[in-house]
Amino acid sequence: MPSHLNPADQQRLDDLHERLCAQSLRNVGYPCNQAFDYSELFRFLQFSINNVGDPFGGTNYRLNTMEFEREVLADFARFTRAPADEWWGYVTSGGTEGNMYGLYVARELFPEGICYFSEDTHYSVAKVLRLQHTRNIMIKSQPDGQMDYDDLRETLRIHRDVPPIIFANIGSTMKGAVDDLAQIRAILDDLAIANAYIHADAALSGMILPFVDAPQAWNFADGADSVSISGHKMLGAPVPCGVVLARKAHVDRIARSIEYIGALDTTIAGSRSAFAPLMLWHRLRTLGDAGLRGMVQECLERADYAVQQLRAQGIDAWRHPNSVTVVFPKPPQSMMEKWIIAPRKKIGHLIVMPHVTTAIIDEFVTDFAAALNCEPRTANR
Ligand SMILES: Cc1ncc(COP(=O)(O)O)c(C=O)c1O
Repeated sequence: MPSHLNPADQQRLDDLHERLCAQSLRNVGYPCNQAFDYSELFRFLQFSINNVGDPFGGTNYRLNTMEFEREVLADFARFTRAPADEWWGYVTSGGTEGNMYGLYVARELFPEGICYFSEDTHYSVAKVLRLQHTRNIMIKSQPDGQMDYDDLRETLRIHRDVPPIIFANIGSTMKGAVDDLAQIRAILDDLAIANAYIHADAALSGMILPFVDAPQAWNFADGADSVSISGHKMLGAPVPCGVVLARKAHVDRIARSIEYIGALDTTIAGSRSAFAPLMLWHRLRTLGDAGLRGMVQECLERADYAVQQLRAQGIDAWRHPNSVTVVFPKPPQSMMEKWIIAPRKKIGHLIVMPHVTTAIIDEFVTDFAAALNCEPRTANR
């Protein structure tokens, strides 16, 4: 067996590295923070570490980092205002797995339940609902991306006999909109619906809202039953990861003990990354709460700057309060070659992550204005 790559294969890796170096800072359309340094953790890549099983239950596989995972989860429980000693969670492979977990718990609690989610919900959610055969109804969105609460109320009224599973966007993918849990809870109370489950998809904003002065209603204290947050988005990581938390009483109803791994089978994945919890732990410890707040506040300030600069060029840009997602009409095709943008229908967005500096924003705005000179403008709401 050769122990080294042949020159052609070596060249392929070099080319890939060069391409990624050139493109990473132009990633402005997807919420993936590129500004991190995990070099202190490289030495752990020599082990086949694995966090298979329940992070609180222990496992026969001793090459794990569950002790660090539990500390990460405790921090996230604090950020999401989970009820003390009444929560459970694990480090996931990303926001999608966390959403799947929340919907799985909900379906186990309410096998006949109907899931309600808005038009602006991430595309993966419809797939998860199909996978687990959960009945579901799409609710209209408002033009700003929030769920249309009137449509939710009317739809719930028609199905009052069936427990609702509300899938709330806490920072929608395209517009950064937050579905207000206070309004959703009020509608449920108004309709006297006692049996309901709310899952909060806080993929991006779950690491923003804990660090702002006036957050929208989004977390456990506002009535969520489970919350999913991506780790590679606001915090930043080279490998996709995330955290899911749920009320413990719900989880206890679905746990099963598996002898082979010596662990409770509470997670969706069997083998789970033991490196991801280390990265999240490293990030949380090096930044601390004050560092996290500073990082978020700086992004919000630069998002504001981006709105102003775009508007100064006559581009109809806007953003929600507490959101780093700056929305504008879909940029001309010529912009897509240089910039990594995620357009959908008539809109595009710039997501101001920590690596999106004012210099990058300036360059983006200049390119956008230049490209528009040759193309017609469209509406963005
Ligand atoms: C609102 C929302 N939910 C879920 C996801 C999926 O998260 P992940 O890519 O971490 O699986 C995304 C990804 O962009 C998202 O924006």
